[in-house]
Amino acid sequence: MTRRAVVTGASSGIGEAVVRALRAAGWDVVGVARRGERLAALDAEVGSASFAADLTQEGDVASLAEHLASSGELHAVVHVAGGARGSDRVEDGRAEDWRWMFEVNVLSAQLLTAALLPLLRRGIAADGGHADTVFITSTAAQNAYPGGAGYNAAKAGESMLVHALRLELNGEPIRVVEVAPGMVRTEEFTLNRLGGDREAADRLYDGVEQPLVAADVADVVAYALAAPGHVNLDLVTMRPVAQSAQHLLARGPLQPRTTED
Ligand SMILES: NC(=O)c1ccc[n+]([C@@H]2O[C@H](COP(=O)([O-])OP(=O)(O)OC[C@H]3O[C@@H](n4cnc5c(N)ncnc54)[C@H](OP(=O)(O)O)[C@@H]3O)[C@@H](O)[C@H]2O)c1
Repeated sequence: MTRRAVVTGASSGIGEAVVRALRAAGWDVVGVARRGERLAALDAEVGSASFAADLTQEGDVASLAEHLASSGELHAVVHVAGGARGSDRVEDGRAEDWRWMFEVNVLSAQLLTAALLPLLRRGIAADGGHADTVFITSTAAQNAYPGGAGYNAAKAGESMLVHALRLELNGEPIRVVEVAPGMVRTEEFTLNRLGGDREAADRLYDGVEQPLVAADVADVVAYALAAPGHVNLDLVTMRPVAQSAQHLLARGPLQPRTTED
């Protein structure tokens, strides 16, 4: 029996890489994001299906749930949609940026979870086994940094939703997995965060030897879903080797210490 997953944020970056990885692993996949034309191009390439929706809108989420309910069983939901806006100090923060970050990272995860849990339970009843939910949070959920407060708060909020959900689902065969990446070089994330300033976005990665790429995160998601059904990866924190902590990023080639150092 082929298992079916919903992957949000599928129109770019990590979500797109998760769609590719799950298709390669034999899953049926429904990609979700607002930009339908990008989803359609990915569908044509890898054989996924898609549904265009704004996940901060209850009506769109309800339509997605109806579409999924009438098109087969559902076994996994991978929440990737999210993002950051701005890098202002708390005292300079813009209300619309903070509101956007809360809605896209936290509220959308709640709306989607509430709408799709009944379908995951239906999938278990129909096919046996277990179901999966995976959330891409961030190391920004674990440590604050200057200029990060809005994103720190939103990702920490999403992470707390994941913790509470795992407790609430105790006793059901539903895994609740959190993957928290550090620096991932994707095409749009930092560009969007910095209001389209390409130079500033490129500067962030300046000299960093091998930031994570989207496929690195997708590999972990695919592993979490492929692990034996009784194994729940509660939290996987992953960073590039060059980033030992949020505040400690090596720029320049990584090299072993020599005796002269
Ligand atoms: N890149 C990093 O360094 C990094 C590190 C740690 C964690 N993360 C997290 O990983 C996730 C993906 O990041 P990324 O680098 O792949 O960023 P990205 O390329 O900007 O992807 C964000 C995705 O979210 C979708 N999205 C945004 N608003 C939406 C909405 N209202 N409704 C539906 N979909 C929406 C976007 O699609 P549309 O615009 O087409 O709707 C896009 O597919 C985010 O949750 C981010 O916080 C990223």
